[in-house]
Amino acid sequence: MTKNLENKIKKDVIETKLSNIYAFSEKISVIPDLVKLTLGEPDFATPKHVKEAAIEAINDDESHYTTTRGRMETRKAAADFLKNKYDVEYDPATELVITNGVTEAMYDTIATFIDDGDEVLIPTPAFPVYYSLVDIFGGKLVQINTQPDGFLMTPARLQAAIDAHPNAKMIILNFPSNPTGRTYSADQMEKIADVLAKTDMVVVSDEIYSELTYGQKHTSIARFIPDQTILFNGLSKSHAMTGWRIGIFAGPANLVEQIAKVHELVTTSVMTASQVAAEEAFSNGQDDAQPMVEQYIKRRDYLHSALEKLGFANQLPEGAFYIFAKIPANLNQNSYDFCIDVAQQVGVGMIPGSSFGDGGEGYVRLSYATSMDNIQEALRRLQKYVEAHK
Ligand SMILES: Cc1ncc(COP(=O)(O)O)c(C=O)c1O
Repeated sequence: MTKNLENKIKKDVIETKLSNIYAFSEKISVIPDLVKLTLGEPDFATPKHVKEAAIEAINDDESHYTTTRGRMETRKAAADFLKNKYDVEYDPATELVITNGVTEAMYDTIATFIDDGDEVLIPTPAFPVYYSLVDIFGGKLVQINTQPDGFLMTPARLQAAIDAHPNAKMIILNFPSNPTGRTYSADQMEKIADVLAKTDMVVVSDEIYSELTYGQKHTSIARFIPDQTILFNGLSKSHAMTGWRIGIFAGPANLVEQIAKVHELVTTSVMTASQVAAEEAFSNGQDDAQPMVEQYIKRRDYLHSALEKLGFANQLPEGAFYIFAKIPANLNQNSYDFCIDVAQQVGVGMIPGSSFGDGGEGYVRLSYATSMDNIQEALRRLQKYVEAHK
């Protein structure tokens, strides 16, 4: 007898759409000799001293569960890192938890707060995992389109969204931004925080790219409104450690206590050797991102101006490793179809802007977390494409 168990699956799960970024990358990956500017992870190696700390931990048989919130030494190192770098203070005993990347921190937090029908504000374009998580818990997504403002949310646009959705429970911010690379100055951040301070919304702030800023120091929103902020950070981008799965959530103790319950049920604790490596990275590798930042700046500058010359208008990004470029007016403005065509015609992989929500259509995301040779080759090919469509 064949059983139909599918009809027992929760509607919210069935209706949740996953980002098409991975599916899209896979689809175009079969194209021979494709130059990929699609990747969302550093092309650098994890720093040697961090790897050595993990090897030593494994050889010392550090192979057991840790306390669920993470080894106290790792939590303390993470809290010190946040204090030194961004002037935000968290008690490692009660206000900070080590997670399997920001992805898990995000899941734990949405699971803790978001119920059927709860409204969540998200400035778009945005990292699509946020949308899927809101969906899977039955939340209602309210997108704040930042395209008209050069992809930075203005206090006025934020206020208008709050006025239109006075019962919104949460806002999810991400800066420097995936996919636009834009971020806020201290002054701009304070003005956003002033608007949020007048509400009782939970402010979720994904600051995973905080170490990758170019020309200005990162300002955390938690500096201004710590009482309502759940801050995310981690080592994936700053220390080229995407596969090690180290993230952090930090916030007021009474909120962290509840989110930590979900964390414990999801994962018990993060891999022990990874946590030892994280302690090393947070304490003795505070500036490990610097040599990578120097490379990213060179690539960003080149890509920014080469794209402009080809007619792909774009803002010079202040952080992360993406450029979000406007498709020239004479070419197909449907970003999905455009990216497929470019991949097939000239072998360049880019991510369609529509993957990042309402604010992304008409644009493409190019990652410069790849070698200068690859970037230059991609630009030569794009030029061929543009000339063929004149
Ligand atoms: C904005 C943003 N947040 C979170 C993540 C995932 O981070 P983690 O590797 O810590 O799970 C990414 C990865 O691309 C990202 O771009």
